[in-house]
Amino acid sequence: MSNPVTKIDDYLESQSKLSLLRFITCGSVDDGKSTLIGRMLYEAQLIFEDQVAALRNESKHHGTQDGDIDFALLVDGLAAEREQGITIDVAYRFFATDHRKFIVADTPGHEQYTRNMATGASTADVAVILVDASQGVLTQTRRHSFICSLLGIKHVALAVNKMDLVDFNQEIYESIVADYRTFSEQLDFESITPIPMSALEGDNVIQRSAKSTWYSGPTLIGFLETVEAHQSKIESAFRMPVQWVNRPDRTFRGFSGTVVSGIVKKGDEVRILPSGETAQVEDIVLYKDSLPRAIPDQAVTLKLNKEVDCSRGDVIVAAKEPIEVADQFETNIVWMDQETGHHGRSYWLKTSTTRVNATISDIKFKYNINTLEHLSSKEMVLNDIGVATISLDRGIPFEPYRNNRSLGSFVLIDRYTNATVAAGMINFALRRSTNIHAQKLVVDRSARETLNGHKARVLWFTGLSGSGKSSIADALEQRLHKRGIRTYILDGDNVRHGLNQDLGFSDADRIENIRRVSEVSKLMVDAGIVVLTSFISPFRAERDMARRLFKDGEFVEIHVDTSIEAAEKRDVKGLYAKARRGELPNFTGVSSPYESPENAEIRLNSGEDSIEACVQQIVDYLGSE
Ligand code: ADX
Repeated sequence: MSNPVTKIDDYLESQSKLSLLRFITCGSVDDGKSTLIGRMLYEAQLIFEDQVAALRNESKHHGTQDGDIDFALLVDGLAAEREQGITIDVAYRFFATDHRKFIVADTPGHEQYTRNMATGASTADVAVILVDASQGVLTQTRRHSFICSLLGIKHVALAVNKMDLVDFNQEIYESIVADYRTFSEQLDFESITPIPMSALEGDNVIQRSAKSTWYSGPTLIGFLETVEAHQSKIESAFRMPVQWVNRPDRTFRGFSGTVVSGIVKKGDEVRILPSGETAQVEDIVLYKDSLPRAIPDQAVTLKLNKEVDCSRGDVIVAAKEPIEVADQFETNIVWMDQETGHHGRSYWLKTSTTRVNATISDIKFKYNINTLEHLSSKEMVLNDIGVATISLDRGIPFEPYRNNRSLGSFVLIDRYTNATVAAGMINFALRRSTNIHAQKLVVDRSARETLNGHKARVLWFTGLSGSGKSSIADALEQRLHKRGIRTYILDGDNVRHGLNQDLGFSDADRIENIRRVSEVSKLMVDAGIVVLTSFISPFRAERDMARRLFKDGEFVEIHVDTSIEAAEKRDVKGLYAKARRGELPNFTGVSSPYESPENAEIRLNSGEDSIEACVQQIVDYLGSE
């Protein structure tokens, strides 16, 4: 045996020069995916001897291959998965041949694991789509291909596996390939390379098979070693999102980030977005070295020839080929959370370098991912894929995902749990922030406030049905009116007869109800009025969304706090009784949740205190400010 240290050195030396290809394998439980990956790893001879020995032992105990090595065991690492026969997460595996290094994302094919597959596909350059030759193109083949295409994979190897089961019959193979080509016309692939294979017996995986003399194309590894998947990144225009501003001392100020496309050279004219300022690249720094140029995937620091306005999240681009800045997009969304996503709800939107407030302003449709049909929907549940409009509270520089994965992708984050709830891909901008200018008017809000003699604001009442919101708001308005304050009450029962008569009580409709009411309140505050809103407004997310529309201090949240028992006992409108009888679905407190405010400015104990006492408490709060 040779010295292991030298062996490792030699190995690292030879490996460091190889290019890296990331690919994903897609197939269902029975297509032979694990066997294929195991075969590739094994034949690429990167399995340590002892691992092989262990494997031989284990195959004797559990394997399905009668004492031969069961390659599937190499891959299906978890016992639980083995029992279920399905893989439940993305596993990344590394292997290399003499020509290339590979990272393979192994993701489950089972329908409910769309999110794992989307995750694996999002970083892959190539997809290996497995079809069982004895089964042909199945629903799941279509689903996998659709997700790969949506996530921007351009090159596909159609691995027609288990050819041994059909005696390497060319006609069967050709008809599967034809089927697949017809279906994939509606997808966005640039190349499809079909390969007849048997992962189990090793035909056309690495070794060319003697059983398919009619086939002259590449083996699977041959294809993976030669497919050109990176060319477009280099040929595109230069883009680098700024990860941080590097300022070790007074004399040096550099912008650090990873080049996501194109090449930048010293002396190049660049533009900083969103500011639009231009400058010249004075130096390209990598650790202590100065480079003449930087290429995609290189992390470098750019030094410019003059001071510019540039911070984290900005994007440095080729000056003559800038990208757009926009605050509203049509996007593809993959829902990844157990919590349902709603039209109208707001989230954090995170890109690789920045975070902004975002609202799902519309869900246009969801896909039936088996048939690609469009289904209308106002919500997204785990593993849904749909097309949605996302609105941001400020513009960000971007590129459509199909042109640039880094600058066109994002995740949505729940504001409260910090969970990643969705992954998104930008299709195009719906509105460019550079095109919208708020109209500046002479008679403005402060002029109106001066005329009125008081400030405008919102008093936002929230609480269960029957908690006393409307009665308290009514009494408070009378008090304020007597003092010469201009007021207006927006009340659930009234607004739902007019502006919101199209809305019911599903989560989605309630979200839209509150969204409209908060926008109307904003207009009224701009008109100089003290607005009293009286809505159950059961969800924290929407109350906070309403709050964000106003300046600090302008939004006063008033929790009209009564126990459900007390509200139910009063049951002025008889609705609780109806709800208990099952005649009123989604009734707050009974069959739909009420999320109590955590930081309301005012909490009224309306179960015990009189209306007058509650009103006084609010008047005191307002007077004390
Ligand atoms: S919210 O949840 O969207 O804020 P909103 O305050 O507009 O509700 O309307 C609540 C009023 O609608 C209640 O006071 C009650 O009179 C009536 N209502 C009818 N059905 C329901 C229901 N399923 N849940 C709650 N309120 C309902």
